[in-house]
Amino acid sequence: MTTSKEMARSKLIHLLQCAHAGELAAYYAYQGHALSLKDQKEREEVSRIQYEEWEHRQCLAKFLLELNAKPQPIREFIFMLIGKTISFLCRIGGWFIPMYGAGKLESGNIEEYVVAAKWAHYSDHPHFIEPLLEMAEVEWDHELYFRQKSESHWMYPFFPKWHIPDERSSIRLRFQSQLEQ
Ligand SMILES: [Fe+2]
Ligand SMILES: [Fe+2]
Repeated sequence: MTTSKEMARSKLIHLLQCAHAGELAAYYAYQGHALSLKDQKEREEVSRIQYEEWEHRQCLAKFLLELNAKPQPIREFIFMLIGKTISFLCRIGGWFIPMYGAGKLESGNIEEYVVAAKWAHYSDHPHFIEPLLEMAEVEWDHELYFRQKSESHWMYPFFPKWHIPDERSSIRLRFQSQLEQ
């Protein structure tokens, strides 16, 4: 394996390990969030998002195995605690704060999968690219859902705004442009 391929592989493993732990935190956070919601439709929508985070985690675990790597136990433990803490806070945080917090966190989740897809390309794992870009698109959907929910609340104008992601279609364009650099 050439040096640049090795470097891409180790960057990819690190990103996948971080995302694997992050998805666990998201899974637990949405578990508490869903339970805190009184509206049945909203509860089902957040439960679906929770399930999608679990699917992401399973996919990441598969990729790590293929790379002969493993999730990092300490990171997993810390993120499990973070997720369970958010889960608990959702139960006492009312309706707006969990929706706002989720939107803000989701806005940061999109790009890590685009970058991971780049390292998958350079480390010669082309079959990882499509699932990683699909995960970025699903995180984009999550951000939109929570942002629209937050915007519907009277408190939204009084809270700082996070960077609104570019159009969904720009995810694949950004991936392509990373390769051309
Ligand atoms: Fe996810
Ligand atoms: Fe998400």
